[in-house]
Amino acid sequence: MSKLSKAQEYILKNKDKVNSEYRLKYHVMPEIGWINDPNGFCYYNGEYHLFYQYYPYDSQWGPMHWGHVKSNDLVKWEYLPVALAPDMYYDAGGCFSGTAIEDDGKLYLMYTGNTNPDLEKPENIRQIQNIAVSEDGIEFTKLPSNPVIDTKALPGSALPQDFRDPKILKHGEDFYSIVGSRNIDGSGQLLVYKSKDLSQWTYVGVLMKSNNKLGKMWECPDLFSIGDTDVVLMSPQFLERDGDKYCNVHSSVYFLGECDIESCSFKPFVIDEIDGGFDFYAPQTMADAKGRRIMIAWMQMWDMTIPSSEQGHGWAGAMTLPRELKVIDNKLYQIPIEEIKRYRGNNIEYKDIVVTNSLALEGVEGKHIELEMEIDFLDANVFGLKIFKDEEHETVMYYDKKEAKFVFDRSKNGQDIFASGVEDDIKYARRVGINLKDNKLKLRVFIDTISIEVFIQDGEKTLTSTVYPNSSAKGIEFYSDAEVLIKELNKWEIK
Ligand code: FRU
Repeated sequence: MSKLSKAQEYILKNKDKVNSEYRLKYHVMPEIGWINDPNGFCYYNGEYHLFYQYYPYDSQWGPMHWGHVKSNDLVKWEYLPVALAPDMYYDAGGCFSGTAIEDDGKLYLMYTGNTNPDLEKPENIRQIQNIAVSEDGIEFTKLPSNPVIDTKALPGSALPQDFRDPKILKHGEDFYSIVGSRNIDGSGQLLVYKSKDLSQWTYVGVLMKSNNKLGKMWECPDLFSIGDTDVVLMSPQFLERDGDKYCNVHSSVYFLGECDIESCSFKPFVIDEIDGGFDFYAPQTMADAKGRRIMIAWMQMWDMTIPSSEQGHGWAGAMTLPRELKVIDNKLYQIPIEEIKRYRGNNIEYKDIVVTNSLALEGVEGKHIELEMEIDFLDANVFGLKIFKDEEHETVMYYDKKEAKFVFDRSKNGQDIFASGVEDDIKYARRVGINLKDNKLKLRVFIDTISIEVFIQDGEKTLTSTVYPNSSAKGIEFYSDAEVLIKELNKWEIK
């Protein structure tokens, strides 16, 4: 039986054995097994397709397949058969991350083949780029010309063990591929390749490099434009902490700048962390028929304990909500995709509520909800909310006006999630810098069983994290250190 059929058969036979306690309601997650990075995110034949790094046989990382879902509205997803399995000599160690492009009605996936299944000898690993093609968006055939970019096509400055995650795009008549790479100095760089026919590729040059200033290997690059601004996203490994920024072991950053792909130049003028939470990595974007630039990311982080896996639930990992990207005043804004509003139900609305000390509002609680609120700080310094609350547990987020920081704290959520190598002071909390506008704070908070995504000041900053609360912990409480005014609060169940 082929590796692909074997994976599919295993999923069908075993998916009902998964423990549903921590399953999410409106986010992409595996039917069974492990997922990490989003891959091949695209709009093809009138539908959204999302692939992902997938190991169906265990709730831990293993030789990577590509799982596959599709959707009409980016909210409700349908599982499709596994798209790629590690079944060729050039991807025997795993079909690693990559992207998709449509050409002539066909859907092409460009991905990294990890050649060496012997993880004991990482120095023997070779990473090379391959393509698979489909006429129906469901069944994929790997090209006979694979690998289309071999390690022979690497410049002398690049290590053959770390050469992965191609972003494929079209510019004029040519296809380009931006591939993450590690320089012999140990740090990250992005290499550019070019092709006329997707099969023959030639090396163009180095688009950007770290010179050991911005983490180690640069994973999962993306390149696109929003209006006149060119944007690069990437996920540098082991990026050093800078105050409240880059507190996770690995980070995801954006650059705004000016790109000339033909001459292989990108001149950045802004760099920042994409999301300030614990669980956000390897984002990928696509443009849809409405011209929106939409991003989705893995809502998890490497080197952390994952309770659903540790407790034998049979699955691990989920994706963020898809988010529309905008560039405003040289900042990258993230806005939850509009379509999520179609799934709002059971609205509870409050206006002009004064909070002094602490307060619960009737009907405002739950584990699969959206909260939208605007708060006038008056003379207060701190306003916050506690969610996933019962007598003993709570997850806390608050804004501190003096510090101009939004803080997220999961220390009392009920279950510790351990990160290897993280200093104590940032083990439980994340902080992002942001200003009030006219003394007001605007929040949209999406809660889904084990996940929290906070969009602050219309998406100027976001904070995405998982927590694993008690099944009964669904209370919400608001608090402040002096009088504040909740000008407006809406709560919806997400159906
Ligand atoms: C990022 C990553 C990629 C790689 C994939 C392997 O999370 O390490 O660089 O292609 O995961 O699963």
